Amino acid sequence: MKQFLENLPKAELHLHIEGSLEPELMFEIGQRNGVKLPFASVEDVRAAYQFHNLQEFLDIYYQGANVLLYERDFYDMTMAYLRRCQQQNVIHAEIFFDPQTHTDRGVDIGVVINGICGALKDAENEWGMSSRLILCFLRHLSGEAAMETLLQALPYRDRIIGVGLDSSEVGHPPEKFKAAFDRAREEGFLTVAHAGEEGPPEYIWQALDLLKVSRIDHGVRCIEDNALVDRLIAEKMPLTVCPLSNIKLCVFEKMADHNLLQLLDRGVKVTVNSDDPAYFGGYMNENFLALHAALDLTQEQAASLVRNSFEASFVSESERAGFMNRLDAFLVANQ
Ligand code: HPA
Ligand code: ZN
Repeated sequence: MKQFLENLPKAELHLHIEGSLEPELMFEIGQRNGVKLPFASVEDVRAAYQFHNLQEFLDIYYQGANVLLYERDFYDMTMAYLRRCQQQNVIHAEIFFDPQTHTDRGVDIGVVINGICGALKDAENEWGMSSRLILCFLRHLSGEAAMETLLQALPYRDRIIGVGLDSSEVGHPPEKFKAAFDRAREEGFLTVAHAGEEGPPEYIWQALDLLKVSRIDHGVRCIEDNALVDRLIAEKMPLTVCPLSNIKLCVFEKMADHNLLQLLDRGVKVTVNSDDPAYFGGYMNENFLALHAALDLTQEQAASLVRNSFEASFVSESERAGFMNRLDAFLVANQ
């Protein structure tokens, strides 16, 4: 089973690039940029990764991002993540970035986008890595700040497939961002939003009705509302679920309590993703392996989960068909 999960062709649809910054690279970049970290060593950084909720994580995650100043920094961080994809048979990745985390420190949005996209391009040329980029608005900031960020990104629109919504969920409902999302859709962007991670099912309804999202990020609290689960099934609405993240941030107490397979069995289009792998103890394969260890994930369930990811990805129909062919060929060869 371990080999099956590791070799399975996968897509990742919920990955914050700033959350892929491993402590070793954080220190290296901090040193070359002369940015001091409030930790003495890589070990001290890892020891600080004990979270009781989303906010405790976010406080340390934004601090880590302070080392990122130049194009090369964003390139190195992105390339390190893409190498993990290559090692783990992740053949397609849709990558979130948080421009406001950087522009609010005086880093130009073009520096961020050029650095990330340089790595995406090199990985595509080097080993055929497929990817898309999604701009996330920070929901603890204002709706006006989101709109301003969207306008700053318009010169780079060709490199961005969609917009999303992340950061502190409770107290920052999707409705706060309706105007920015309306404008984003008018400009041709697809939309997604984090909802129902810590926030109530009501936030998932709002993401669907007001932000008109194509996917819900996390969404695990949908299970508290049967009418909502019925709607997600009827609309084949994908949920980008992040098992290890949910345990690290205490959304569920332990993996055996996670509802991902319950949702899958009920017919919700759930997918597996790593969220912030440098902070949560693993990339895609570690997430699949944790589901197998705690919930007896079967090969059939794993195949359904990756099929859902390819179906939910923001690619052309011919690219999707190519992914499905690779998946089907793998399954035939590994029966
Ligand atoms: N939730 C909200 N905001 C985030 C997350 C998350 O899991 N990861 C990075 N920003
Ligand atoms: Zn996330």
